[in-house]
Amino acid sequence: MVRTIIAEALKRSDFGAEVLVKGWVRTRRGNKTVSFIALNDGSCIHNIQVVVDNEKFGEEYLKPITTGACIAVRGNLVESMGKGQAVEIHATAIEIYGTADPESYPLQKKGHTLEFLREIAHLRPRTNTFGAVFRMRHHMAMAIHRFFHERGFFYFHTPILTASDCEGAGQMFQVTTMNLYDLKKDETGSIDYSRDFFGKQTSLTVSGQLEGELAAMAMGSIYTFGPTFRAENSNTPRHLAEFWMIEPEVAFYEIEENMQLAQDFIQYCVRWALDNCQDDLKFLSEMYDKELIDRLNFVVNNDFQRLTYTEGIKILEEAVAGGVKFEFPVGWGTDLQSEHERYLVEQHFKKPVILTDYPKEIKSFYMKQNDDGKTVRAMDVLFPKIGEIIGGSQREEDYAKLQRRADEMGVPTKDIWWYLETRKFGTAPHSGFGLGFERLLLFVTGMSNIRDVIPFPRTPNNAEF
Ligand code: 4AD
Ligand code: MG
Repeated sequence: MVRTIIAEALKRSDFGAEVLVKGWVRTRRGNKTVSFIALNDGSCIHNIQVVVDNEKFGEEYLKPITTGACIAVRGNLVESMGKGQAVEIHATAIEIYGTADPESYPLQKKGHTLEFLREIAHLRPRTNTFGAVFRMRHHMAMAIHRFFHERGFFYFHTPILTASDCEGAGQMFQVTTMNLYDLKKDETGSIDYSRDFFGKQTSLTVSGQLEGELAAMAMGSIYTFGPTFRAENSNTPRHLAEFWMIEPEVAFYEIEENMQLAQDFIQYCVRWALDNCQDDLKFLSEMYDKELIDRLNFVVNNDFQRLTYTEGIKILEEAVAGGVKFEFPVGWGTDLQSEHERYLVEQHFKKPVILTDYPKEIKSFYMKQNDDGKTVRAMDVLFPKIGEIIGGSQREEDYAKLQRRADEMGVPTKDIWWYLETRKFGTAPHSGFGLGFERLLLFVTGMSNIRDVIPFPRTPNNAEF
């Protein structure tokens, strides 16, 4: 007999039909004569209720069916009299695949803290919360591919091992096969990377953008969607050392079209969540964030506020003058902290914000330089509760200007000769951005710590599992 997925079984109304379901026991309760097993197979947030005639199976046989055990149940679909479910299964046969000793199985009772669940990341997908979050993670990945595919973008794979630092921020994890106990150095004390696997110093990528640009300059519209790595030592609820990024790159786009793409993209994903993840959203909203669904609807139905960095700084300076206290100072030229971004979004505009035209000193070398000589055509999308969710820009398409800026910022141009050549051969205006996948997930799930929206978070001092 083929197994029925519990999400499917719960939708059926052909009462009397025989089914086979398999899953993990959430709870077992009952009395002398009858047991009620709440069974979950991860296909949806809901359990199916299995009703067991104790006498038929015998108390000894049923005893190991405790929370966490894995069983297969054959039985008949019956219209349920109990509230909270429309259908239940009256068991005719039960096979026990694996028991879970009640003395040691950690997920006995409800109401574990998220901190505790992080310590048992190997088991937390079995909780309602993480089932919901990881199902939504899947749905967001689907939405992202559909959005771009529907618009004629090609999914382009960029390398994970790389010899160039796209963001030039020096936050790269080095990759080597050299014996660290026996490192050969030359007369100047430098390590001789010509002996290393790739014959040069290599790292894990911080962004697929540079290679993505090469593809856009041939295929028109592309996007990447892959893991990226940053060795930034920031232990915040919004930073991971390993996170997933989506980076569209479009030939002939100017920054205005790039901003519109970013808005359409996020709105599409959020609408997808509202349309396809209703049960999980309802659960997460009730558990963690009562305003979650309202906030998602708001984002779908309202344009993002666009303004320049300079205008943003003015608003923040006026706020400070009016008595608002920030931990970090505000002033033209300084990078915005998450508290500043959130002030603009949550207090001032009360909607998502796209800030553009940042000072060139605080942005990467590849951004298109404005005529004022001071700012670049950058755009950051700022979101409630999150701060920066997207970072992007129009790219500098002029060879000489790009090379000069790379030199000024200490980006070794010998490593990116291939990138510079796109400006030498058939250059064109183009733009793109990067969306942090886990930041999007924070927004759509209402979770408040980024460690809780990725199955196995990598953060400073934490690489367990
Ligand atoms: O602003 P970032 O650094 O931009 C880039 O990497 C560009 N190359 C993107 C591009 O234009 N193609 O990063 C982009 C986004 C951020 O807005 C944020 O959402 C996310 O990536 N991000 C992180 N997410 C989790 N943990 C971290 N440590 C992150 N650093 C950036
Ligand atoms: Mg950024």
